[in-house]
Amino acid sequence: MLSPHELDGRWSLDRPYLNTASYGLPPAPAFAALQEALAEWREGRTSWEGWTESVARARESFARLVGARPEDVAAGATVSELVGLVAASLPDGAEVLVPDVEFTSNLFPWLAQQHRGVRVRTAALSDLADAVDSSTSLVALSAVQSSNGDVADLASIREAADASRALVFVDATQACGWLPLRAADFDFVVAHTYKWLMSPRGAALMAVRPERLDALVPIHAGWWSAENPLGDYYGPPLRLARTARRLDTSPAWFSWVGTAPTIELVEQIGVERIHEHDVELANRFRAGMGLEPANSAIVSVDVDAAERLEAAGIRAAVRAGGLRVSFHLYNTGAHVDAALDALRAAG
Ligand SMILES: Cc1ncc(COP(=O)(O)O)c(C=O)c1O
Repeated sequence: MLSPHELDGRWSLDRPYLNTASYGLPPAPAFAALQEALAEWREGRTSWEGWTESVARARESFARLVGARPEDVAAGATVSELVGLVAASLPDGAEVLVPDVEFTSNLFPWLAQQHRGVRVRTAALSDLADAVDSSTSLVALSAVQSSNGDVADLASIREAADASRALVFVDATQACGWLPLRAADFDFVVAHTYKWLMSPRGAALMAVRPERLDALVPIHAGWWSAENPLGDYYGPPLRLARTARRLDTSPAWFSWVGTAPTIELVEQIGVERIHEHDVELANRFRAGMGLEPANSAIVSVDVDAAERLEAAGIRAAVRAGGLRVSFHLYNTGAHVDAALDALRAAG
């Protein structure tokens, strides 16, 4: 497990926070960088260009984290928007296969293309690999399910998709930051950074397999997507960046200012070690609830006791009818035990 010494005072929780699956808590250096940028903004102390350097830093750091090249990473504001971009680029009549309880940011954008014959088929996550067939154009799924923390068998799904020449789109929002992932194994890997990458909302990144880039329509193109965005603002012709930056949306400056130092810190600590730490805490919680160990940082239990946790000052969430608790690097064994005590008190 990570020791408080290794976290070096970057987080100071005065109560257990078990809800990273909803939003993660910023490390001190990122929070300080954001305050500094806000103060600059308030007094007009700088021009804005410096804030955009955070987009490049976040793109590079995310690329290293998932083993991609920065030039193959697009930066947007939400997952739904980046899913929508890929959805808008599918051929008419394409079939998309999605797990049946998938989070809607990775479902509605595909469904929204129905007007031009794009079809969405669903199957249980455990049956997804078997459900891929020759009619499947793309399989879209979360690496880790938001509703209950189930970790997808990505290797089998990739294999089944390869056999049917289907693309694989992975939403790693509930995974990136604690579950090791290799972008090269998939066609698209997207993650919003405000959960396990502990950043402000409004910074999402997507690694695109280089061969897929040219098939994507840059539907969000604007000044920021230009080859030279800091000095070329007016008039035709269309002159987009040659890299995946042409798929970007113009950056929400302050979100990125808080995001870059946080992803860099995750890199520095190491996803493998965070994985070990988070899953160990989750399994300590599972054991306390009489459950077998599993491989996820998110645990969903069928108890109606969220209010008791709340009363004990412990933040968790209710999703798909279950109590969802999630464990990240700033949590400790004492936080797990406090939650178990509160739940036992709930009888
Ligand atoms: C799996 C997953 N994807 C995406 C999101 C967020 O989507 P968006 O960035 O479109 O708001 C969430 C938020 O809970 C999520 O759990």
